[in-house]
Amino acid sequence: MDYVYGPGKNHLFVPGPVNIPEQVLRAMNRNNEDYRSPAVPALTKTLLEDVKKIFKTTSGTPFLFPTTGTGAWESALTNTLSPGDRIVSFLIGQFSLLWIDQQQRLNFNVDVIESDWGEGAKLDVLASKLAADTEHTIKAVCIVHNETATGVTNDLSLVRRILDEYRHPALFLVDGVSSICALDFRMDDWGVDVALTGSQKALSLPTGMGIVCASPRALEASKTAKSLRVFFDWKDYLKFYNLGTYWPYTPSIQLLYGLRAALDLIFEEGLENVIARHRRLGQATRLAVEAWGLKNCTQKEEWFSDTVTAVLVPPYIDSSEIVRRAWKRYNLSLGLGLNKVAGKVFRIGHLGNLNELQLLGCLAGVEMILKDVGYPVKLGSGVAAASAYLQNNIPLIPSRI
Ligand SMILES: Cc1ncc(COP(=O)(O)O)c(C=O)c1O
Repeated sequence: MDYVYGPGKNHLFVPGPVNIPEQVLRAMNRNNEDYRSPAVPALTKTLLEDVKKIFKTTSGTPFLFPTTGTGAWESALTNTLSPGDRIVSFLIGQFSLLWIDQQQRLNFNVDVIESDWGEGAKLDVLASKLAADTEHTIKAVCIVHNETATGVTNDLSLVRRILDEYRHPALFLVDGVSSICALDFRMDDWGVDVALTGSQKALSLPTGMGIVCASPRALEASKTAKSLRVFFDWKDYLKFYNLGTYWPYTPSIQLLYGLRAALDLIFEEGLENVIARHRRLGQATRLAVEAWGLKNCTQKEEWFSDTVTAVLVPPYIDSSEIVRRAWKRYNLSLGLGLNKVAGKVFRIGHLGNLNELQLLGCLAGVEMILKDVGYPVKLGSGVAAASAYLQNNIPLIPSRI
């Protein structure tokens, strides 16, 4: 019995975990299997090949860890770096803050470049640090591609250009947890050394799989990196890859079949179409926010995120009350403001297996809630702005043309 039952479907608009498509749910609804039978390695082989496509890499080596994004972070760091290594990391919101905390607890010497929440990474400061670092003491640059707490997307191609400009050999480590498979992400083109994501975000799977992809340079670095690692050691995985059995310990069989189904759906839609859909969802949401007369937490257009929008509320409103009411009255789940922006923003997650009409339902709900909490919004204004844009921009569904 579901003790928090509400009629109809819950409108899940937190920026992860996101909606799981029916096809994926059905694919996962199966018994356990012997992972040492020939079937599981055969399935794993296709997954490792196909997962490279969502990172846009041909030379990278993927690892499917039974973990979350936080574990994927740890895997990226401990396999490539040694305690005491100097790394540059950008603090722009709650998730970059948590990653930095992990970096410090793993005993790296973290050079933090901080921005106001709502702003992107200060890449000019990175440039001056790299310029001054003629001895190449900086071993890695760590960046969160899409800061889920503030809805800020950083320009990774620019990070690569800066590294190249100073011919700096630092490894380029990227958290793509709320970007990969939703935003334009190009591991090979941008010379990313380790990229990672979590299953519960744009892949629209349950939580429980952290996907880490290592460049040849990162694999090379792992041979000398001295950080203590056991569960997340790439070496153990590589050993089993070579044996063709793939798993150093027990994988979640259900998640493997789920990943197969999730990738099939993404490829059927077309990765570029998936990315374009997220662009539409992001733009429609921003138009609604503007029509409501509210501000985006993201300070400049160049950083607007197409997977999450953090909406600033006027000081007389507590944004947590919006999130509470959404759930209690409308069966709508919105994201809370976190840490520095707690009470000041609420977040609309628009990523994963989601279509435009679902988003309009969410926007209609937000309008009613805004009215509930005393904000003078004209009901229908955001929905009208979003749907006017969407009506002009939604293409035919690729598989139905
Ligand atoms: C950008 C980003 N990185 C990392 C994480 C941490 O992932 P997890 O909660 O799966 O450990 C999150 C979680 O929301 C995130 O949004």
